[in-house]
Amino acid sequence: MSLACLDGAVMPVAEASISVTDEGLLRGDGAFEVLRLYGGRPFGLDEHLARMGRSAANLRLVLDPEAVRADVELLLREAAPGDALLRLVATRGGRRIALLEELPEHAPTISLASVTYAPTRILDGVKSLSYAGNMLATRLAKEAGADEALLVTPHGRVLEGPTSSFFWVRGGELLTPPLDDHVLDSITRRLVLEETEAREASCTLEDLTGAEEAFLASTVREVQAVSAIDGREIAVGGPLTARAAERVRARIQAAVGPPEPVG
Ligand SMILES: Cc1ncc(COP(=O)(O)O)c(C=O)c1O
Repeated sequence: MSLACLDGAVMPVAEASISVTDEGLLRGDGAFEVLRLYGGRPFGLDEHLARMGRSAANLRLVLDPEAVRADVELLLREAAPGDALLRLVATRGGRRIALLEELPEHAPTISLASVTYAPTRILDGVKSLSYAGNMLATRLAKEAGADEALLVTPHGRVLEGPTSSFFWVRGGELLTPPLDDHVLDSITRRLVLEETEAREASCTLEDLTGAEEAFLASTVREVQAVSAIDGREIAVGGPLTARAAERVRARIQAAVGPPEPVG
């Protein structure tokens, strides 16, 4: 039975409900986070709670991150999940939701199609519930025959995936679009920047025609090699992608402990 925690009370997901008048639902007015659980242990809980606190503060939404932490601890204690996702939501209606979700299957490589996207400036630094644009971008990329979208501004600046950060290699150097270009301050992006020689640099779609490697980075995917952008193939299995994947995995394992034995 799948469990949720709603405002500090654990219950079956099917029994967890919020009001239809909650503006989190009606207007996408609220904040969220998605964490990954390894053998039931969350990675980066402090970082996710801190970002959720910043999102809420920027939205002028009252939220006590320590109450969210208590929800998480309670839910994890009662549900004892294995490898899974944990979604945290705070709505304008004042509801706190913690929800366990299945870990989606991700192929080792992914193809991207560019989709024009203008970040909403006023939501800078907010992981808001208003994600319809991001979800639509993925659908449009799939309609174009790719697996996922690569968001590109109307002026041609490459940003990120709808739910992931973007890294690429040029001249043996690992690069990622800067936060100044209004991409999300991703926790996995920070990890890659700390653990590798990667640096921030703006880039255009045209620049990417010379990409030697590329990958997406996120809590859910960790590091996922990009095999093509707009139908142009990119070599996978390159050294900088492998190194980033290894370093991110090592940091996660150091934090959550070794994987549990199978069987
Ligand atoms: C737009 C966007 N960029 C990047 C990411 C990756 O962020 P993180 O590494 O914190 O999961 C996400 C995560 O959902 C996202 O929504």
